[in-house]
Amino acid sequence: MAISTKICPPFQVRQMTEDDFKQVVNLWTELDIAVYKSLMPTFYSIDPNGFYVAVNLEDDKVIGGIGSCNSYSDSLIVGMFAVKKEYRGLGIGSKLFEAVLKHIGDRNAGLFCNAKILPMYRDKFDFVKQDNNNAVNYAIEDSPNLDLLCKHLSGVTIHSFNEGLLSKIADFHEKITKDRNEKLLRLILSDKDGISRVIIDSKGDVVAFGTLKSTNLSTVVANGPIYSINDELAELLLYNLIKDFEPTKGLELDLRDSENVEKIAVKLNLRPIVKFYRPFTKYVPETDMSKIYGFHTVAFYPF
Ligand SMILES: CC(C)(COP(=O)(O)OP(=O)(O)OC[C@H]1O[C@@H](n2cnc3c(N)ncnc32)[C@H](O)[C@@H]1OP(=O)(O)O)[C@@H](O)C(=O)NCCC(=O)NCCS
Repeated sequence: MAISTKICPPFQVRQMTEDDFKQVVNLWTELDIAVYKSLMPTFYSIDPNGFYVAVNLEDDKVIGGIGSCNSYSDSLIVGMFAVKKEYRGLGIGSKLFEAVLKHIGDRNAGLFCNAKILPMYRDKFDFVKQDNNNAVNYAIEDSPNLDLLCKHLSGVTIHSFNEGLLSKIADFHEKITKDRNEKLLRLILSDKDGISRVIIDSKGDVVAFGTLKSTNLSTVVANGPIYSINDELAELLLYNLIKDFEPTKGLELDLRDSENVEKIAVKLNLRPIVKFYRPFTKYVPETDMSKIYGFHTVAFYPF
């Protein structure tokens, strides 16, 4: 077995401040992983006490970060857990995770992670409850193929987000997730670094909504929520989001792992990159997963 020659610098785990966001996002940029630009300010504003950084005391630079956010009524989601490559395997990640566990206390918590790291969360940190609702990260480096998507449906109208729609969107969101979450929806849907589209039926009810957003990677656009009552409306929503989000760039979508959603990804010509599992500590929150095509964010929201 190779013996590590790395020396652990003196470090401190402390609460994250807004001044740390840039360095925290840089940890992900170095990994070439897309994080939408408003992610940190949005979720930090909901639960600022749940975010921590590890700082190298020799130069005061951030060498690791983590957040846990009570973005959903009865569960916290842990995300943005990373340590700079040259400082891994020295116990810094464990110290960050311990800080988050202390903040979580007796509450239920969940996270998204790949198959390789799932046993660590299960065996070391007790994330033991799972269902079959996982996510798949899909990507395409250039423009996706929009030709095969549903482009028109009679009896529905398509809108950008406006404050007048918030209550109806929250009604729809609540039916699916059992949580209105108007504060989060407003932040996610009014984000200047992205676009939103809301589909309304002839009765005036919301039947689909979603967002696409710019990310830390200049070449990648990523999704926020893609919620819809059926496949056709999900296609219509994606068609309008992608068509209207200029400039055209590579696209990354975190979608639900299911056959019907995969068919839409295939139509778009997206490639599956990695599957994310979704373990929790005490229980998996109840939700109507059939209406969730894309996740809000695999960083800080359970669906
Ligand atoms: C995950 C990560 C934050 C851990 O940070 P770290 O400082 O290296 O963690 P530690 O040194 O405290 O090690 C923590 C434990 O996890 C294990 N571990 C760390 N990364 C692992 C991985 N990718 N797969 C499996 N086990 C892993 C370590 O072996 C160690 O186990 P031990 O305590 O039984 O020896 C770091 O590897 C990282 O930044 N990875 C890239 C980003 C990432 O994948 N984040 C998680 C997203 S879900």
